[in-house]
Amino acid sequence: MNNNKKKSGFTGSLGFVLAAAGSAVGVGNIWRFPYLVARDGGGLFILVYLVLVLTFGFVLLTTDIAIGRKTGKNAWQAFASISPKWGFLGKLTFLVPVLIMTYYSVIGGWIVKYMVVYLTGQGNLAAQDGFFGQFITSPVAPIFFMLIFLAITALIVFRGVEKGIEKFSKFVMPILLVMIIGIAVYSLTLSYTDQGITRTGLDGLAIYLIPNFDGLTVPKFLNILLDAMSQLFFSLSVSMGIMITYGSYVKKDVDLNKSIAQIEFFDTAVALIAGVMIIPAIYVFSGTAGMTSGPSLMFVSLPKTFASMGPAGNIIGILFFVMILFAALTSNVSIMETLVANCMHIFKKERKQTCSWISIYSLVTALVICLGYNMLYFEYTLPNGVVGQLLDIMDYISNSFLMPLISLLTCILVGWVIKPSWIASEMEIGSNGFNKKHLYTFLVRYIVPVIMAILFFQSTGMLNYLTYLMK
Ligand code: PFF
Repeated sequence: MNNNKKKSGFTGSLGFVLAAAGSAVGVGNIWRFPYLVARDGGGLFILVYLVLVLTFGFVLLTTDIAIGRKTGKNAWQAFASISPKWGFLGKLTFLVPVLIMTYYSVIGGWIVKYMVVYLTGQGNLAAQDGFFGQFITSPVAPIFFMLIFLAITALIVFRGVEKGIEKFSKFVMPILLVMIIGIAVYSLTLSYTDQGITRTGLDGLAIYLIPNFDGLTVPKFLNILLDAMSQLFFSLSVSMGIMITYGSYVKKDVDLNKSIAQIEFFDTAVALIAGVMIIPAIYVFSGTAGMTSGPSLMFVSLPKTFASMGPAGNIIGILFFVMILFAALTSNVSIMETLVANCMHIFKKERKQTCSWISIYSLVTALVICLGYNMLYFEYTLPNGVVGQLLDIMDYISNSFLMPLISLLTCILVGWVIKPSWIASEMEIGSNGFNKKHLYTFLVRYIVPVIMAILFFQSTGMLNYLTYLMK
């Protein structure tokens, strides 16, 4: 097993950075970030987010990647090898990709469906009211498209770290960047006159970038902060074992300081450019109303916007859904790889056999999630107030419950039990030193755990309960 482990890994820093950026850049950057900006005060949210990337993002990403490279193990084993008492944290971390895997392929399938709709020139159909709802509640189509998405993911993971994941990321990530920049530039050139008022892409850009302090109160600002925080660690794929697994594939001569800065830069740049692509386009054709539509933004508001663009809309639709398909695939690959890598160790089996079992697991669970929109439909009010179906429940447990809890526990372990110098010593290997050591130490010990605890209490609804009790 150990010999196999040594053989698989990224060939160098570029392969690692692009694969990790591939995991980080996903549906979260392209769909979730822009709508949060529109909802949470434009440039104000961006400013808060940038500060968090350089502080919290840096701490969480550094911790995961350094644990991975230093132990050479996956989450399941890594925490146990650091301290036997903390082995439970590895198992808890492993649970996140187990849960995310159940629904990410379902969303991936929706993306494949929309790409096919645009490729076959039926963009206007996708813009009709009720199209999305009809599609996801139909019995066969969502399963069919999910299967395609899952099969591509499994094929890449099956081929291994170097020949599958690295090769695919190196091919796809530069294309993704060029496509998103291209659509963003096009978005800025748009203009539309409605009832004598002309709205341009540049007006939309101003709405996106200029901080809006209207009606800002302390509780509102706290909410913005918490939104930015949960977006940040979903976006960076931290606290779910993925970056630990990818970190374990990095050679010792790679400068982790540089790689981590590059991954953060890539992830943030794509999120920011996604906003330039989406917000001005929606503003030009529908004003400020369509921007904050949340989950339906990608599958409902955007198709309507593309339809308003005339003939160009179908081409932009193709480019958009191909691009987001690339983003979703590289993210799904990282989730499946983490499951496969952990299970290879747990069950002491080879990659190919493990990959087949994980594919079967993913298939069965994704099927259940698909049925959650028809046969198994029910509505459930989550502790954070969101009314959701099966998919939302999985998303809630993994992102709102487990991830802040894991971040909190990991910070306690690193900050107070094994001490930040344990991480720092790994950051110094292959580099000219860990120049942000003091910042890291301060944040991991005092700031990040406190904020993670608040985030955990907020997303589990306990914060509201506490404030209610204090009134
Ligand atoms: N980081 C990805 C995004 O921003 O969309 C999402 C993601 C990837 C979530 C991998 C979870 C995951 F395991």
